[in-house]
Amino acid sequence: MSKKIIIANWKMNPASLKEAETLFSNVVKKSSFKKTEVVICPPFLYLEKLKKISKKIIIGAQDVFWQERGAFTGEVSASMLVSLGVKYVIVGHSERRKLGETNSDVNKKIKNALFSGLKPILCVGETERDEQHGYFNIVKNQVEECLNGINKELISKIIIAYEPVWALSTTEGRRDATSSDSREMSVFIKKVLTDKFGSKTKLPRIIYGGSVNEKNCGDFLTNGGVDGALPGAASLNADKFLEIINVAENL
Ligand code: PGA
Repeated sequence: MSKKIIIANWKMNPASLKEAETLFSNVVKKSSFKKTEVVICPPFLYLEKLKKISKKIIIGAQDVFWQERGAFTGEVSASMLVSLGVKYVIVGHSERRKLGETNSDVNKKIKNALFSGLKPILCVGETERDEQHGYFNIVKNQVEECLNGINKELISKIIIAYEPVWALSTTEGRRDATSSDSREMSVFIKKVLTDKFGSKTKLPRIIYGGSVNEKNCGDFLTNGGVDGALPGAASLNADKFLEIINVAENL
């Protein structure tokens, strides 16, 4: 079984640095893993402090800008993140797309992140499913446009997270996605990538996100055709997150 990656997306939580340090330290103290890659993506403000707590857990950011420096009030550049020891960055999350981020913005962010040595975690996923299966086209467009013009040698540095918005824990009237939904989309994304970059290109890892928790992660990781998971809500509870790591470690 290949090494799995578990990536915590804390979103805009917790409310204070003290709580963030406690949550992070609890995960560090109680976790033991060898085979699994564990990444935590806290809000920008907590990155520096948390990075100093442990080397065992890899630190990621939740966004990055596409320019390196200059008159861009409120933005954070890839090299700033690299200078703090950040290794991964989430781009194109549906919550940012909802605020207006486009595939073209995400494309620029990925290019700049790769240029600076950050590994992008590209989130894709449809808002809802239609009977005509148009959602495959939505995901295809997201993958193609977000990765447009990227050197195929660098493609394997990217992780693609399939996150159907209708399955996120915070989506009103949400439904559970199944491991077969995930597997089907993973196969589809690989086909889109192979068509775009050629069959010899080393492909990105594909992971699943959308209400991943300690109970369903074993099924997604075993039957979902993915190399890892991106839990949001469950990653804010140290015990639940530790259990997810444990499941990945013992597959
Ligand atoms: P969730 O969030 O696990 O709370 O659904 C996942 C995400 O939005 O990345």
